[in-house]
Amino acid sequence: MDYSEKIDYLANLIKKSPYTLALTGAGISTESGIPDFRSPGTGLWTKYDPMKVATVSALERDPAAFYKINLDRWTRYNGAEPNAAHYALTRLEREGLLYGVITQNIDGLHRKAGLKQLWEVHGHLRTCHCMDCTQSFPFSCLVDQFNAGINPPRCDKCGGVLRLDVVLFEDALGEDFVQAVQAMTKCRLLIVVGSSLQVYPVAALPERAKQLAVINKEPTPWDDRAEIVINEMAGRVLTDILAALGIM
Ligand code: APR
Ligand code: ZN
Repeated sequence: MDYSEKIDYLANLIKKSPYTLALTGAGISTESGIPDFRSPGTGLWTKYDPMKVATVSALERDPAAFYKINLDRWTRYNGAEPNAAHYALTRLEREGLLYGVITQNIDGLHRKAGLKQLWEVHGHLRTCHCMDCTQSFPFSCLVDQFNAGINPPRCDKCGGVLRLDVVLFEDALGEDFVQAVQAMTKCRLLIVVGSSLQVYPVAALPERAKQLAVINKEPTPWDDRAEIVINEMAGRVLTDILAALGIM
Protein backbone atom coordinates (compact mmCIF):
# COMPACT_ATOMS: atom_id res chain seq x y z
CA MET A 1 0.00 0.00 0.00
CA ASP A 2 1.22 3.51 -0.76
CA TYR A 3 0.77 6.40 1.69
CA SER A 4 -2.69 7.50 0.55
CA GLU A 5 -3.97 3.90 0.51
CA LYS A 6 -2.70 3.54 4.09
CA ILE A 7 -4.53 6.74 5.11
CA ASP A 8 -7.78 5.47 3.57
CA TYR A 9 -7.29 2.06 5.20
CA LEU A 10 -6.77 3.59 8.68
CA ALA A 11 -9.66 6.04 8.18
CA ASN A 12 -11.83 3.02 7.41
CA LEU A 13 -10.71 1.15 10.53
CA ILE A 14 -11.58 4.24 12.59
CA LYS A 15 -14.99 4.59 10.93
CA LYS A 16 -15.84 0.93 11.62
CA SER A 17 -14.46 0.72 15.17
CA PRO A 18 -17.07 0.99 17.95
CA TYR A 19 -14.37 1.84 20.54
CA THR A 20 -11.08 3.44 19.56
CA LEU A 21 -8.27 4.61 21.83
CA ALA A 22 -4.98 6.31 21.06
CA LEU A 23 -1.73 5.55 22.92
CA THR A 24 0.70 8.44 22.55
CA GLY A 25 4.37 8.87 23.35
CA ALA A 26 6.99 11.58 23.15
CA GLY A 27 6.95 11.39 19.35
CA ILE A 28 3.61 13.21 19.19
CA SER A 29 5.20 16.24 20.88
CA THR A 30 8.42 16.57 18.85
CA GLU A 31 6.58 18.76 16.32
CA SER A 32 5.86 21.07 19.28
CA GLY A 33 9.62 21.41 19.83
CA ILE A 34 9.94 18.90 22.68
CA PRO A 35 12.66 16.27 22.08
CA ASP A 36 11.69 12.64 22.51
CA PHE A 37 13.80 10.06 24.34
CA ARG A 38 15.02 7.52 21.81
CA SER A 39 15.14 9.14 18.36
CA PRO A 40 18.66 8.46 17.07
CA GLY A 41 20.89 11.47 17.77
CA THR A 42 18.27 13.78 19.27
CA GLY A 43 16.50 11.66 21.90
CA LEU A 44 17.16 12.63 25.54
CA TRP A 45 18.28 9.13 26.40
CA THR A 46 21.01 9.36 23.78
CA LYS A 47 22.62 11.96 26.11
CA TYR A 48 21.78 10.62 29.57
CA ASP A 49 21.41 7.09 30.95
CA PRO A 50 17.85 7.13 32.35
CA MET A 51 18.71 4.27 34.72
CA LYS A 52 21.24 6.59 36.36
CA VAL A 53 19.37 9.93 36.33
CA ALA A 54 15.61 9.30 36.18
CA THR A 55 15.06 6.72 38.92
CA VAL A 56 13.54 6.84 42.40
CA SER A 57 16.87 5.66 43.87
CA ALA A 58 18.73 8.55 42.15
CA LEU A 59 16.24 10.97 43.77
CA GLU A 60 16.51 9.32 47.20
CA ARG A 61 20.32 8.99 47.01
CA ASP A 62 21.05 12.62 46.14
CA PRO A 63 17.97 14.80 45.61
CA ALA A 64 20.02 17.96 44.94
CA ALA A 65 21.94 16.23 42.11
CA PHE A 66 18.67 14.71 40.83
CA TYR A 67 17.07 18.15 40.44
CA LYS A 68 20.26 19.69 39.05
CA ILE A 69 20.26 17.12 36.21
CA ASN A 70 16.53 16.75 35.57
CA LEU A 71 14.62 19.90 36.46
CA ASP A 72 15.66 21.84 33.37
CA ARG A 73 14.10 19.29 30.97
CA TRP A 74 10.87 19.41 32.96
CA THR A 75 10.61 23.20 32.89
CA ARG A 76 12.28 24.18 29.60
CA TYR A 77 9.25 23.30 27.44
CA ASN A 78 6.55 24.98 29.58
CA GLY A 79 5.76 27.31 26.71
CA ALA A 80 5.30 24.49 24.16
CA GLU A 81 1.98 24.47 22.29
CA PRO A 82 -0.01 21.50 20.99
CA ASN A 83 0.62 20.66 17.33
CA ALA A 84 -1.64 19.40 14.51
CA ALA A 85 -1.43 15.83 15.82
CA HIS A 86 -2.75 16.76 19.27
CA TYR A 87 -5.57 18.82 17.76
CA ALA A 88 -6.48 16.06 15.31
CA LEU A 89 -6.95 13.57 18.18
CA THR A 90 -9.10 16.12 20.02
CA ARG A 91 -11.17 16.52 16.84
CA LEU A 92 -11.63 12.75 16.49
CA GLU A 93 -12.80 12.65 20.12
CA ARG A 94 -15.25 15.50 19.48
CA GLU A 95 -16.65 13.66 16.43
CA GLY A 96 -17.19 10.55 18.56
CA LEU A 97 -14.55 8.60 16.61
CA LEU A 98 -12.07 8.36 19.49
CA TYR A 99 -13.03 7.45 23.06
CA GLY A 100 -9.87 8.80 24.68
CA VAL A 101 -6.08 9.02 24.80
CA ILE A 102 -3.64 7.09 26.97
CA THR A 103 -0.49 9.19 27.05
CA GLN A 104 3.01 8.51 28.36
CA ASN A 105 3.74 12.22 28.03
CA ILE A 106 3.93 14.57 31.00
CA ASP A 107 3.92 17.74 28.86
CA GLY A 108 0.20 18.46 29.25
CA LEU A 109 -0.24 19.15 25.51
CA HIS A 110 -3.27 16.86 25.07
CA ARG A 111 -5.06 18.82 27.82
CA LYS A 112 -3.95 22.10 26.24
CA ALA A 113 -5.44 20.85 22.92
CA GLY A 114 -8.81 20.40 24.67
CA LEU A 115 -8.90 16.60 24.87
CA LYS A 116 -11.48 15.42 27.42
CA GLN A 117 -10.80 11.73 28.15
CA LEU A 118 -7.10 11.50 28.99
CA TRP A 119 -5.10 9.05 31.07
CA GLU A 120 -1.64 10.44 31.93
CA VAL A 121 -0.05 7.11 32.85
CA HIS A 122 3.44 8.57 33.48
CA GLY A 123 2.10 11.47 35.53
CA HIS A 124 2.18 15.20 34.81
CA LEU A 125 3.93 18.46 35.72
CA ARG A 126 1.07 20.20 37.56
CA THR A 127 1.76 19.14 41.17
CA CYS A 128 4.44 17.76 43.47
CA HIS A 129 4.28 16.22 46.95
CA CYS A 130 6.35 15.91 50.12
CA MET A 131 8.21 12.58 50.38
CA ASP A 132 7.67 12.59 54.17
CA CYS A 133 4.20 13.93 54.98
CA THR A 134 2.83 13.48 51.37
CA GLN A 135 1.32 17.00 51.40
CA SER A 136 0.57 18.07 47.81
CA PHE A 137 1.72 21.42 46.34
CA PRO A 138 1.63 23.07 42.90
CA PHE A 139 4.73 22.04 40.89
CA SER A 140 5.65 25.75 40.76
CA CYS A 141 6.51 25.60 44.51
CA LEU A 142 9.27 23.11 43.72
CA VAL A 143 10.54 25.11 40.72
CA ASP A 144 10.44 28.47 42.54
CA GLN A 145 12.49 27.10 45.46
CA PHE A 146 15.03 25.55 43.06
CA ASN A 147 15.31 28.83 41.14
CA ALA A 148 15.80 30.68 44.45
CA GLY A 149 18.78 28.38 45.14
CA ILE A 150 16.97 26.05 47.56
CA ASN A 151 18.00 22.59 46.34
CA PRO A 152 16.57 20.13 47.17
CA PRO A 153 13.19 21.91 47.38
CA ARG A 154 11.49 21.26 50.69
CA CYS A 155 7.98 20.96 52.17
CA ASP A 156 7.04 24.08 54.13
CA LYS A 157 4.95 21.92 56.45
CA CYS A 158 7.53 19.38 57.66
CA GLY A 159 10.79 20.15 55.82
CA GLY A 160 10.68 16.90 53.85
CA VAL A 161 12.06 16.78 50.27
CA LEU A 162 9.53 17.56 47.52
CA ARG A 163 9.15 15.23 44.55
CA LEU A 164 7.22 15.89 41.35
CA ASP A 165 4.17 13.80 40.42
CA VAL A 166 5.89 12.20 37.43
CA VAL A 167 6.40 8.42 37.24
CA LEU A 168 10.14 7.72 37.52
CA PHE A 169 11.84 4.45 36.68
CA GLU A 170 11.32 2.12 39.70
CA ASP A 171 7.96 3.81 40.46
CA ALA A 172 4.72 1.85 40.42
CA LEU A 173 2.17 3.26 37.98
CA GLY A 174 -0.86 4.99 39.47
CA GLU A 175 -4.64 5.22 39.09
CA ASP A 176 -4.53 6.55 35.51
CA PHE A 177 -2.77 3.37 34.37
CA VAL A 178 -5.30 1.16 36.19
CA GLN A 179 -8.12 3.02 34.42
CA ALA A 180 -6.30 2.83 31.07
CA VAL A 181 -6.02 -0.96 31.41
CA GLN A 182 -9.74 -1.04 32.18
CA ALA A 183 -10.48 1.03 29.07
CA MET A 184 -8.33 -1.31 26.97
CA THR A 185 -10.64 -4.23 27.82
CA LYS A 186 -13.31 -2.50 25.70
CA CYS A 187 -10.95 -1.27 22.99
CA ARG A 188 -11.44 -2.50 19.40
CA LEU A 189 -8.86 -0.26 17.69
CA LEU A 190 -5.73 1.11 19.37
CA ILE A 191 -3.85 3.78 17.43
CA VAL A 192 -0.26 4.19 18.68
CA VAL A 193 1.14 7.64 17.87
CA GLY A 194 4.82 8.54 18.44
CA SER A 195 6.01 5.84 20.80
CA SER A 196 8.88 3.36 20.51
CA LEU A 197 6.80 0.98 22.69
CA GLN A 198 9.88 -0.02 24.69
CA VAL A 199 8.86 0.90 28.25
CA TYR A 200 6.73 -1.56 30.20
CA PRO A 201 4.08 -1.93 31.46
CA VAL A 202 2.66 0.63 28.98
CA ALA A 203 4.34 -1.15 26.06
CA ALA A 204 2.22 -4.22 26.83
CA LEU A 205 -1.08 -2.39 26.27
CA PRO A 206 -1.25 -3.14 22.49
CA GLU A 207 -1.62 -6.82 23.52
CA ARG A 208 -5.15 -6.01 24.63
CA ALA A 209 -6.33 -4.33 21.42
CA LYS A 210 -8.28 -6.34 18.83
CA GLN A 211 -6.87 -4.13 16.07
CA LEU A 212 -3.63 -2.13 16.20
CA ALA A 213 -2.47 0.81 14.07
CA VAL A 214 0.98 2.37 14.48
CA ILE A 215 1.86 5.90 13.40
CA ASN A 216 5.58 6.26 14.16
CA LYS A 217 8.65 7.55 12.34
CA GLU A 218 10.68 4.47 13.30
CA PRO A 219 9.74 0.77 13.44
CA THR A 220 8.37 -0.55 16.76
CA PRO A 221 8.38 -4.07 18.29
CA TRP A 222 4.61 -4.27 17.65
CA ASP A 223 4.68 -3.52 13.91
CA ASP A 224 4.32 -7.14 12.79
CA ARG A 225 1.09 -7.45 14.79
CA ALA A 226 -0.37 -4.17 13.52
CA GLU A 227 -3.10 -3.97 10.85
CA ILE A 228 -1.39 -0.87 9.52
CA VAL A 229 1.95 0.88 10.14
CA ILE A 230 2.56 4.40 8.83
CA ASN A 231 6.18 5.52 9.28
CA GLU A 232 5.51 9.22 8.75
CA MET A 233 5.25 12.40 10.86
CA ALA A 234 2.26 12.24 13.18
CA GLY A 235 1.04 15.77 12.37
CA ARG A 236 0.82 15.02 8.64
CA VAL A 237 -0.75 11.58 9.08
CA LEU A 238 -3.45 12.64 11.52
CA THR A 239 -4.33 15.73 9.47
CA ASP A 240 -4.71 13.50 6.40
CA ILE A 241 -6.83 11.05 8.43
CA LEU A 242 -9.23 13.90 9.34
CA ALA A 243 -9.46 14.86 5.65
CA ALA A 244 -10.07 11.22 4.61
CA LEU A 245 -12.91 11.11 7.18
CA GLY A 246 -14.33 14.32 5.71
CA ILE A 247 -13.65 16.21 8.95
CA MET A 248 -12.24 19.61 8.04
N1 APR B 1 5.94 11.67 14.18
C1 APR B 1 5.91 10.33 14.36
N2 APR B 1 6.78 9.65 15.14
C2 APR B 1 7.73 10.37 15.76
C3 APR B 1 7.85 11.78 15.62
C4 APR B 1 6.89 12.43 14.79
N3 APR B 1 6.89 13.75 14.60
N4 APR B 1 8.91 12.20 16.36
C5 APR B 1 9.44 11.10 16.94
N5 APR B 1 8.74 10.01 16.59
C6 APR B 1 8.92 8.64 17.04
C7 APR B 1 10.36 8.21 17.20
O1 APR B 1 10.80 7.60 16.01
C8 APR B 1 10.29 7.22 18.38
O2 APR B 1 10.19 5.88 17.91
O3 APR B 1 8.37 8.60 18.35
C9 APR B 1 9.02 7.58 19.11
C10 APR B 1 9.27 8.14 20.49
O4 APR B 1 9.80 7.09 21.27
P1 APR B 1 10.52 7.43 22.67
O5 APR B 1 11.46 8.55 22.47
O6 APR B 1 11.03 6.13 23.21
O7 APR B 1 9.34 7.96 23.59
P2 APR B 1 8.25 7.12 24.34
O8 APR B 1 7.87 5.91 23.56
O9 APR B 1 7.17 8.06 24.71
O10 APR B 1 9.03 6.67 25.69
C11 APR B 1 8.26 6.03 26.67
O11 APR B 1 10.11 6.20 28.19
O12 APR B 1 11.78 7.31 29.31
C12 APR B 1 10.48 6.92 29.37
O13 APR B 1 8.96 8.05 30.70
C13 APR B 1 9.58 8.11 29.46
O14 APR B 1 7.28 8.21 28.80
C14 APR B 1 8.58 7.90 28.35
C15 APR B 1 8.72 6.43 28.02
ZN1 ZN C 1 6.01 17.46 54.43
